[in-house]
Parts: sequence; C-alpha cells; structure tokens
Amino acid sequence: MVVLISGTGSNMAALLEASRDPGYGAGVVAVGSDRKGTRGIELAEEAGVPTFVVPFRDYTDRSLWNAAMAERISEHRPDLVVSAGFMRILGPAVIGSHPAVNIHPALLPSFPGAHAVRDALAHGVRITGTTIHFLDEGVDSGPIIDQVAVPVEDDDDESSLHERIKGVERRMLVDTVGRLAREGWTIDGRQVRFGRTEQ
Ligand code: GRF
Repeated sequence: MVVLISGTGSNMAALLEASRDPGYGAGVVAVGSDRKGTRGIELAEEAGVPTFVVPFRDYTDRSLWNAAMAERISEHRPDLVVSAGFMRILGPAVIGSHPAVNIHPALLPSFPGAHAVRDALAHGVRITGTTIHFLDEGVDSGPIIDQVAVPVEDDDDESSLHERIKGVERRMLVDTVGRLAREGWTIDGRQVRFGRTEQ
C-alpha cells in the first residue's frame, strides 16, 4: 500500500509497525504527503520507507496537483492507497487508478469534513467514533467498511476526544487493512484481492 498523510502520521506508523509481521499480509511501499517537513514523513524516513511530497501550493490548479499525485503514487505500483490523516480531496486521477480507503474521526455520515471532532462536540453528541470507508469523489462519502464508537466524556475538549479516537482508529485501521489484504473485498459484485480481480 501507499499511505497518504498530512501531519503526525500516527495511523501510518501503526500500519508500518503491523506490517513488520510477515503474516500481516500487507506492506507499506511508500508514504506520500501534500506537505513538506511533517513529523509523519520524518517517521517514514526513519523507518527506511520511500517518501514523496507533492505540495498543493506548487500547482495552479487542483486537477494538475491530483495528476502529479497520481503519478507519484503509481510509481510505487500499490494495490491499495490508504488516506490516513490526509487533508486534501483526491480526484479521479488517483481514485480511478487504485482502490483507496480513508479513515475519518467520526461516525459517518455524521460530521464529514475537516473538523469532525470539533463538529461532533459542538453538536453535543454523547457517542462519536471513527469510520473507515472506500474513497469516492465526494467528501467522506464512499462505502463504509467498518466503524467503532467512542463515548464522549463530560470533560472532553477537542484535543482529548481526538486523542482517544485516534487510539481506536489505529487499531481499526490495522485490523481492516490486514483483513482487506488477506481476504480481499468486493466491488460491483467482483471479488478483488491485492493485485488481481477475480471474475
Ligand atoms: C486521524 O484522526 C484521521 O482520522 C484524521 O486525521 C487524523 C490523523 O492523525 N483524518 P495521524 O496523522 O494519523 O496521527
């Protein structure tokens, strides 16, 4: 898999750790980002994983940026793209070429978008959580693969709640990606396994 990140990359680091076990069924071939100098890219470099950065600001137009991103991803020939804390919308150039999943810190379809934890708190929900879903061209709108609920505590602020959600996300992401790698998945009635489609 190629893992895409924009920040600290703790979910990506959990995937790296899990894939050290040969029985896990998947490995990280590269880590990509839209931002230079992030902790996540540093972590990947320290682990000896190839990295690439395609800064959004270097492109005059979103579709040119998407095309550059797609090209860099394809160089690594991944069977799966994992968006884990990647804060930009991926267009058809990327998601038309590779199956892709995203992890989101809320129980979709509630609270899509970049401020999911803040929005859930502001709404006063007592239970929120995390969702892993296939990417489509919408914002946090693709088919849901798995969800885990996280209760909101009375004294939670955005940061304490997000940290608790991230602890749950790391386990769910590792479990789900491992399961997709070992068992495959179904798209439009076709069984897909890493690297091949069965009719
Ligand atoms: C996670 O909560 C993820 O769901 C959201 O951004 C956060 C990334 O955290 N999209 P990290 O960079 O993996 O630590």
